[in-house]
Amino acid sequence: MSKYKVVIAGSLMAPALERIQKFCDVKQWTKSGAIPQELLFDWLKDAEGLIATASIKVDKELLKHAPKLKVISQAAVGYDNIDIGACTDKSIPFGNTPGVLVDATADLAFSLLLCSARRIHEGWDFVRSGAWRSGSNIPFGIDLAGKTLGIVGMGQIGAAVAKRAGAFGMNVIYYNRNRRPDDEKIGATYQHFDTLLEEADCIIVLTPLSKETRGLFGREQFTKMKSTAYFINVSRGPVVDANALFDALKTGQIAYGALDVTDPEPIPIDHPLLTLPNILITPHIGSATTETRTAMAQLTVDNLLAGLEGKPLPACVNTNLIMEKQKG
Ligand code: DGY
Repeated sequence: MSKYKVVIAGSLMAPALERIQKFCDVKQWTKSGAIPQELLFDWLKDAEGLIATASIKVDKELLKHAPKLKVISQAAVGYDNIDIGACTDKSIPFGNTPGVLVDATADLAFSLLLCSARRIHEGWDFVRSGAWRSGSNIPFGIDLAGKTLGIVGMGQIGAAVAKRAGAFGMNVIYYNRNRRPDDEKIGATYQHFDTLLEEADCIIVLTPLSKETRGLFGREQFTKMKSTAYFINVSRGPVVDANALFDALKTGQIAYGALDVTDPEPIPIDHPLLTLPNILITPHIGSATTETRTAMAQLTVDNLLAGLEGKPLPACVNTNLIMEKQKG
């Protein structure tokens, strides 16, 4: 039996790759950096399946070069690099990996809050640099118990962060495009966006990147926050205006920033944000645990193989859209 032809635009964990190789001939980009567009387009000429990565844009132009494509799969819950409308127009299902990364990402978001609030990395620098002497000024943080956490973007990860915050004695408010009917169950109270900005002691951003959320946090929003506010972004870099964040942190308009996502990624070593003392940046590691990345890789393969066989994807973003299109 002939094998399916599949392009993998980046790395994939070995067990997941082996599952694909049983049924597919694979062309895979294994070097560092993004696959050059010309090469990708060439590989896609006869590809039936594509495993995409955040570093490639799946748009009309790419799909023009992939006339045989039956399915696109990506190991992430976010899909701001994918033009879902363009995939739907071609009736190509797109699969992502929701659910399996909820706890890991919530843990990371809450870790950034804890590390910032308790100045963990400054404490470590203090020890390592030899600055710790008896009587020296150790870095002071803030208590979390009794503080108000504002979560912007209340999906499954937001609810898991709210649960963690409740266990630490925090009061939780949230803003979401749609209000969740089960507010009390997640232990969080809905607030208007501006009220959340004004009332929260700490803000964790988890909203997906879209036309509406690009630049959601700019000068106006930082001005509304408390001067003691902690601002944490675990969503996507472009949700925040980095210049406005730099100024807000530099001038003391807000107290502290922690980012797991930047724009661009990786953040250049000479980026102004890296010169600030009151920021902590991690390299987009929200879902980066062995267990979670393994589960994400397997779900990515499940989606890919289902699509190649013409079956429903276990986690498909545009099933309904494709059905509606087919109905006419
Ligand atoms: C996601 O799943 O969208 C995370 O950001 C990992 O890339």
